[in-house]
Amino acid sequence: MTERLRWGIMGTGNIANQFAQGLAGSSRGQLTAAASRTQASASAFTDKHDAKAHAFEGYDRLLDCADVDAIYLALPNHMHMEWTLKALQAGKHVLCEKPIANNADQATAMFEQAKTSGKVLVEAFMYRSHPLHHAIARHIAEGAIGKIQAIRTSFCFKVNNPEGNIRFSRACAGGALMDIGCYCVNFSRHYIGSEPQAVHATSRLNDDGVDILTSGTMHFADDVLASFTCGMTLHADNAAYICGDEGYITIPIPWKPPTEKATYTLNRGTPPRMDKGAAAAGPMSKEVSVDAGRPLYGLEADDFAAVVMDGASPTITAQDTIANMQTLDALRESAGVIFDGEQA
Ligand SMILES: NC(=O)c1ccc[n+]([C@@H]2O[C@H](COP(=O)([O-])OP(=O)(O)OC[C@H]3O[C@@H](n4cnc5c(N)ncnc54)[C@H](OP(=O)(O)O)[C@@H]3O)[C@@H](O)[C@H]2O)c1
Repeated sequence: MTERLRWGIMGTGNIANQFAQGLAGSSRGQLTAAASRTQASASAFTDKHDAKAHAFEGYDRLLDCADVDAIYLALPNHMHMEWTLKALQAGKHVLCEKPIANNADQATAMFEQAKTSGKVLVEAFMYRSHPLHHAIARHIAEGAIGKIQAIRTSFCFKVNNPEGNIRFSRACAGGALMDIGCYCVNFSRHYIGSEPQAVHATSRLNDDGVDILTSGTMHFADDVLASFTCGMTLHADNAAYICGDEGYITIPIPWKPPTEKATYTLNRGTPPRMDKGAAAAGPMSKEVSVDAGRPLYGLEADDFAAVVMDGASPTITAQDTIANMQTLDALRESAGVIFDGEQA
């Protein structure tokens, strides 16, 4: 193995470009190849990011390339399982974009193949690689906000032209829950530290049968609750709030924290006048700022390299990914979103 992990990028769309930019700022990664459906797109991609990298027409050419250790899989959701299985069988490690598959059954099959092939497979929830989230987790573990009681999150954006956008397509396993609700689910499960016992989702569906706006709730053990809104036709604060019995944490930019000065605030509200209990501590507000030093997708690539090259534990484990998909399956069932090959 060379000193730097040699990456082949599969697909040359939106996130593939962001990942390639991040990779250039990583400590242990190097772009060595990219593959597209067309030669023109593959060549334009490598010209932009690294002219020395191979540019292939056809994704399978990437699997045959001896200069590639790991595949970054940036294809539409419904193609994740097929190409992850092929890449693992070809002896490549895979960092697969979120959500890792259409559903939990597919995700389970993918991790079984990773085990059989003896290769690393990780779902690309990049936000978890940012030290902002490590700092928040430390503060919670130290008791800064007491015991978590509730979490609320949002992740929304407005797409002006849904025509041809994979997110609005049922055949591409699209929808707001799959595209961005998956972050809200992952965040809540991660910080609460267990799996929801019951979930509910209410959605606005498009004519193709995928949710374009969803509000969801998740009920965890000890009656800890999480709620979220995700949507592709509206604006929202896209913030996260972790509420405990001694205070709460506000995270203004949880999903794509900036490289420098990523912040969160530790807060405490005003004690209510009707509380006849012992005098509670007064209000507090303390902002914490975190510098990552590297771009978000570079941090993600370096975390992945540590798993492959040092045997480190992945930031997002197989268990985490499969449980996240199980929760998404249950939320989609509640919302009435069914993909091809799934039972109604
Ligand atoms: N982690 C993140 O921050 C993040 C952000 C956005 C998206 N994502 C995930 O990344 C994946 C791709 O999203 P994206 O925003 O990059 O999408 P995109 O811009 O539409 O790119 C998808 C690429 O997949 C390839 N492709 C193959 N078959 C296709 C088909 N039938 N329709 C459309 N594209 C096809 C195309 O690449 P070629 O033409 O080169 O073959 C296309 O450029 C999704 O799973 C999404 O959930 C993650």
